[in-house]
Amino acid sequence: MNNFNFYAPTKIVFGKDTEQKVGELVKAQKANKVLIHYGGASAVKSGLLERVVNSLKEAGIEYVLLGGVIPNPRLSLVYEGIELCRKEKVDFILAVGGGSVIDSAKGIAWGVPFDGDVWELYEKKQEASDALPLGCILTIAAAGSEMSGGSVLTKDEGGLKRDYCNDNIRSKFSIMNPELTLTLPPYQTAAGCVDILMHTLERYFVSGSTLETTKSIAEAIMRTVITNTKILHHDPMNYDARAEIMWCSSLSHNDLTGCGNLSNDFASHMLEHEISGLFDVTHGAGLAVVWPSWARYVYQDCLDTFVRFAIEVMGIENTGDKETMALQGIDALEAFFTSIDMPVTMTQMNLEVSEKQVRYMANSCSQAAGGNCIGSAKSLDLEDMYQILKDAV
Ligand code: NZQ
Ligand code: ZN
Repeated sequence: MNNFNFYAPTKIVFGKDTEQKVGELVKAQKANKVLIHYGGASAVKSGLLERVVNSLKEAGIEYVLLGGVIPNPRLSLVYEGIELCRKEKVDFILAVGGGSVIDSAKGIAWGVPFDGDVWELYEKKQEASDALPLGCILTIAAAGSEMSGGSVLTKDEGGLKRDYCNDNIRSKFSIMNPELTLTLPPYQTAAGCVDILMHTLERYFVSGSTLETTKSIAEAIMRTVITNTKILHHDPMNYDARAEIMWCSSLSHNDLTGCGNLSNDFASHMLEHEISGLFDVTHGAGLAVVWPSWARYVYQDCLDTFVRFAIEVMGIENTGDKETMALQGIDALEAFFTSIDMPVTMTQMNLEVSEKQVRYMANSCSQAAGGNCIGSAKSLDLEDMYQILKDAV
């Protein structure tokens, strides 16, 4: 195993009605004025926003509102948020929503004290030395942004989607009430579950020595996600299944499932960011499209782990034939995606992707990596990226 740091400073407040505690949690952060950042409609329609506002009022905390975050959150709204926070002397940001809202809130939190264009962080040209403190109320189990140090934004023109990571942004607290996710459309529930699985898979299929504890935790999380996603597919109002999925969302992306790894893979994520940047599709659905193509391309370079995954996670019988078992494991996960109505090709997402667009996405992905290879299970160069995307069409 390799040396590692594990840093997960976020206080988790989990369970029914926990959003009622937001006033006292913000007060404990000694905040004077809060930006409440939220999305399109769901938080207003469900009454959540009103409950949040009332809780802040009861705690005597001033606030300003900025809604309108859309999936694959845009840089332009982050600029607007930065201006608003400076003008209103906001000293705490409260994200009420999913990964898109939280990521937009993180962009604002870095941008307010930053002397320059916040996009330079996402271009990896600068580092953020400071950030406004952030708190979250999570409404969809998916991105794991409620405990992660990352944010992903999309530049409005050109659809360039880029991430930036810095531990200084990790949320001070995250309120996680599984009941808030009961209003999710089935497609978003399923896409979220794929994203959760993928955050663990990206840390599972890696080269070099790993920690048995980490591998076993990862397998438990993946089995739990698959079992409870199946339950939600037929019984979306099942609170216990919602709770299991929600907690897995955080554990899969707070780095717990990467402890002891030399490096994580995240090639599927990088390739997917090109698809959702260019075509504005749902991130989790894009991952369901990329992963089978990626897995069939790389499995021979990471064969023992693919065999272990097949047996321990997908329940494939151990016949001793490694090649066959590895492929059966990949087939089984792909079939699981299909069973929860996720697409497994770009065509199934109703995208007509031209050869030129595949080439554009591969080039853009390579540029995002600074011209370097991506991945850990197998190191992928530009032509590999192109081939995986092409196989996913
Ligand atoms: O805007 P509203 O009306 O809230 O609608 C949202 C949105 O349309 C809706 N929704 C959310 N909670 C709901 C709800 N609808 C009904 N009831 C609720 N309780 O769901 C839709 C999707 O929301 P979004 O926030 O976009 O979903 P998700 O959490 O999957 O976030 C996706 C974004 O996170 C990024 C992705 O790339 C994508 O941009 N990621 C961020 C990561 C991070 N910061 O660590 C890591 C991930 O790998 C990922 O890349
Ligand atoms: Zn993801």
